[in-house]
Amino acid sequence: MWELMAIPVLTSAAALWFGRNTSSEEHRIVQQTFEHYHIHVKDGKNNRYPQLVREYKSTKRIKLIYRTPLALEEKTLRTLQQVLSVTLDQEVNVSFKKWLIIEILKNKMPSYVSYGEVPYRKGWMVPLGKNRQGWHFHHFDHTPHTTISGTTRFGKTVMMKVMMTYLIEHHPWDAQFVIIDLKGGLEFNRYQNLQQVKRIASDPIEALYALKQVQKNMKERMDRFKRQGWSNIVDTPLSQRLFVLIDEAAQLTPEKFMEKEEKKTLAQCQSILSEIARLGGALGVRLVYGTQYPTSNVLNGSIKQNADLKVSFRLGSDYASKVAIDAYGAETLPSDIKGRALIKTHEVKEVQVPYLNHEEIWKRIGGYEVAKQTVVPNETGEDYVRLG
Ligand SMILES: Nc1ncnc2c1ncn2[C@@H]1O[C@H](COP(=O)(O)OP(=O)(O)O)[C@@H](O)[C@H]1O
Ligand SMILES: [Mg+2]
Repeated sequence: MWELMAIPVLTSAAALWFGRNTSSEEHRIVQQTFEHYHIHVKDGKNNRYPQLVREYKSTKRIKLIYRTPLALEEKTLRTLQQVLSVTLDQEVNVSFKKWLIIEILKNKMPSYVSYGEVPYRKGWMVPLGKNRQGWHFHHFDHTPHTTISGTTRFGKTVMMKVMMTYLIEHHPWDAQFVIIDLKGGLEFNRYQNLQQVKRIASDPIEALYALKQVQKNMKERMDRFKRQGWSNIVDTPLSQRLFVLIDEAAQLTPEKFMEKEEKKTLAQCQSILSEIARLGGALGVRLVYGTQYPTSNVLNGSIKQNADLKVSFRLGSDYASKVAIDAYGAETLPSDIKGRALIKTHEVKEVQVPYLNHEEIWKRIGGYEVAKQTVVPNETGEDYVRLG
């Protein structure tokens, strides 16, 4: 039987079993792992370790094949895989089929990827990022709402701009945006004249007006859906989608110290946001909700419940990570890499979000700039393209 032995050092007898000498650094590390985790069988007084019988190397992978006197149990294989992936900082697959097969994939987790590398995808997709396995995309027609959390300066706004740019590039006639940029409009104001951008709100009063417009638009859609007997936009001939991007959503949280009026405005914003989260998906409204501190009063229940994609950049604590993505891990993302995020759907994946700056955005979508009239906020104003 394979046993866990408390003999930490390699005996000279066991050394014989390591078999042929090889200069491979990976093999050396695998051997050390066998020793440290006591992966051997006892043969009289000796410990018999797996013996390397073949080593294949290519530019993409290294495959090490070991002979073992007995099969290894599943738990040992998983431990080996986990320890080796972390030690080598590479993707490692460990399996047992007559031989113990250890495959080390050489592609590294990228620490930077540029938007220019993002491949084309059809449909309402946006790139989330790249990792060792390749690119990961989000499909807005499958999962309408998403939350993006993370400590400031790690990449939330850049990710929203990536989404906006990709959607406009691929759906110039069908993507519409309402952007609530509560950093006073600093990040998104320059895109206000894009044909696809219906409105940019840069303070809570403008936000409330913009959200009321979305609510009104939803109501019209709802009536039309009822008339036509439709239940979800994805099953209709309607090709437009309305994206509501909210950057720094914590600014919409009512606080104790605020004046009564301000609190009321913010409470109304929250209530419309909940309504969008609950009903908007089926009607073609997609919510992207970005916030630094994902405490439960900022990330209100119905938004969180209805956002089946949760993204988080680095966060300060495991508690914050749990609130943001229902899982620990955002607190251990590297502190020296911008744009590194966890994406959580049914499982959690780590990705490097593509980067693009304003010049690049403008090069790609600046051509959609049109002359717009400033619309004075009033309750009856209608400046949306109607569905049709
Ligand atoms: N995906 C990325 N790849 C590389 N650098 C990034 C990425 N995202 C953000 N950065 C860098 O980090 C800075 C802050 O990003 P930003 O999106 O403004 O952060 P946040 O909105 O979370 O405060 C950017 O100006 C850029 O220099
Ligand atoms: Mg930001």
